[in-house]
Amino acid sequence: MFSFLSSKDPSEANLYIDLGTAHTLIVTKKEGLILNEPSIIAYTQPKPGQQKPIAAGYEALELVKNSPGNIFIRYPLKEGVVADIQNTEAMIRFFLNKPEVKKHLSSPKIIISIPYDATEVERRGTEQIAKSAGAKHVFLVEEPLVAALGANLDVGSPEGRMIIDFGGGTTEISIIALNDIIFCQSLRAGGHRFNEAIIQGFKTKHNLVLSPGQAEQIKIKYGSAIPRSLIETFDIEGRDLETGKPKTISSSSQELSLTFDHLLTQVSQGIFQAIENAPPEIVGDIMEHGIFLVGGGSLLKNLPQRLSNDVQIQVKISQNPLTAIADGGKALLNNTQLLENILI
Ligand SMILES: Nc1ncnc2c1ncn2[C@@H]1O[C@H](COP(=O)(O)OP(=O)(O)OP(=O)(O)O)[C@@H](O)[C@H]1O
Ligand SMILES: [Mg+2]
Repeated sequence: MFSFLSSKDPSEANLYIDLGTAHTLIVTKKEGLILNEPSIIAYTQPKPGQQKPIAAGYEALELVKNSPGNIFIRYPLKEGVVADIQNTEAMIRFFLNKPEVKKHLSSPKIIISIPYDATEVERRGTEQIAKSAGAKHVFLVEEPLVAALGANLDVGSPEGRMIIDFGGGTTEISIIALNDIIFCQSLRAGGHRFNEAIIQGFKTKHNLVLSPGQAEQIKIKYGSAIPRSLIETFDIEGRDLETGKPKTISSSSQELSLTFDHLLTQVSQGIFQAIENAPPEIVGDIMEHGIFLVGGGSLLKNLPQRLSNDVQIQVKISQNPLTAIADGGKALLNNTQLLENILI
């Protein structure tokens, strides 16, 4: 009888969360970005088999650094979706209760974006988790549309645009027009796969064991999507696979590029597949305006040039790839009509 009391009004949405595999960003309508932290939870084990979440984000990293052995960390999201319900809920709750978030709102009505190929169970699961973590209402939207907004594209235009969101756990290659996703090739592989490829490559070629943190550092510092004309060399210390002892080897940016090659080829193939599935006039729009890149993975050196060489279309990287989706979230919070149009 009083069902209207619980109905959701999109104009009341007051927070956007980009719940990413690597980073969680929280945005308000007015202030914009108010939280940007690693998607990590720290927990203790009061009894065998029991987990007690104690902190999230940077605080979690700090705790584990100061108390290794007693405190454990976990990434509760994998490949863009919730992999661990209990810890994702705890992480969102910690973030919503942080003073810098709490001071802006007492009753969060949250927009959350979901990867295009997330299943119905994953979608409803995320909604439920956010509610359990303290959200009054949850509005789900497709992530590629928020990415396009974040790249300053006119998503309502009949002209087609191609946007690639290169995240930590997913890479979504989408064609957008008329507030809709015409095609999306969602690869459940992002920047983390590049780190895995480095770890695997060094194990096989050099018998050297590296940590995920080391792989991330050398990717960022020396990684390149094309072998550079000037080849940079570097030394890296790891653990010998056979003896277990520390060992230092020399490697180069060129070796890293070769390690990444098959992953980059997958992205180029995804672009071709999107183009093959688009109507001819939309393909014309994309050829004319180019391909837009957002997400932290797009910061890999020479990525636009590599993709552009492969597909023969201009590729442009957005100004702040790591926060572009959050910018899209802010735009969405300030455009109720658009939010109504694109709600899942
Ligand atoms: N300078 C850089 N060079 C290469 N990769 C980078 C650089 N900076 C960040 N990255 C990569 O960006 C990824 C994180 O990007 P982002 O924060 O957009 O992901 P996410 O939104 O958390 O993940 P997803 O959207 O897939 O759930 C990581 O894999 C990280 O290694
Ligand atoms: Mg992302």
